[in-house]
Amino acid sequence: MNITVAKSAGFCFGVKRAVNKVYEQADIKRGPVYTYGPIIHNEEVVRDLEQKGVKVLPSIEALTDGQIRQGGTVIIRSHGVSREVYEKLEQAGFEVEDATCPFVLKIHQIVEEFSNDGYEIVIIGSSEHPEVEGIRGWCDPEYTTVIADVQEAENFQPKSGKKVCIVAQTTFNYKKFQELVEIIQKKGYIRDIRVLNTICNATEERQNEAASLAETSDLMIVIGGRSSSNTQKLYEICKEECANTYYIQTTADLHLAQTGHIDNVGITAGASTPKKIIEEVQKYVRTKL
Ligand code: F3S
Repeated sequence: MNITVAKSAGFCFGVKRAVNKVYEQADIKRGPVYTYGPIIHNEEVVRDLEQKGVKVLPSIEALTDGQIRQGGTVIIRSHGVSREVYEKLEQAGFEVEDATCPFVLKIHQIVEEFSNDGYEIVIIGSSEHPEVEGIRGWCDPEYTTVIADVQEAENFQPKSGKKVCIVAQTTFNYKKFQELVEIIQKKGYIRDIRVLNTICNATEERQNEAASLAETSDLMIVIGGRSSSNTQKLYEICKEECANTYYIQTTADLHLAQTGHIDNVGITAGASTPKKIIEEVQKYVRTKL
């Protein structure tokens, strides 16, 4: 029996880098260590870090309402934050360790430069997403609009005049991005539109690899949290290629007795699944099948 784990299963480059940085800081720092928001959407990892003394700083407000003693190290997660958050943390006496993904930092730079050049900024993405909140914080708030759907693109009217710079949340769907950009471009009165495709291909690569692995597998296992939308999407993609696809959170959800004869097993995992869980599943499949 062959077991193949997708190379792109689990953490992307930026998340891996951020999680490693937190473990590193937990080992070397003497004072308190915080992450600005949970480092990833995986309770097990957050709990493990808590045991190593790393706490979550939920928001800037937590600094003023006495929940948190000021001082120590704060690690900025891969989503990044606004300029204001950096400033407030430093003013509060924290040492800031920046684990913002370099692809997100690049967006901060782009929007800051274009904003300074008098461009109105359009961020294609979801306004509640922390990454988008962070990007917004590098633009002139008066001249920044977040657009998530066709309706919002149609309603968009630049306040400033004729210069617009469009960027995307890194995990936004490329086709949808193109569709929304076209709607804005069709508004004839905007003289200068700069479109910067800032979508990261980590998600797409993970999905493409999962589809081709599922196609050649008799049994496909997708690992990830129940509420993780990127894992749900992976599951749907795999299920289309391989009817025998399982969606699990840990080995406890896997009931392989019913599977029948299997030659090829494929394993992939959502963006917040730690390597340790992927390895446990791989080991479990090897011993049980
Ligand atoms: Fe990950 Fe950075 Fe891309 S956090 S999804 S590698 S933008």
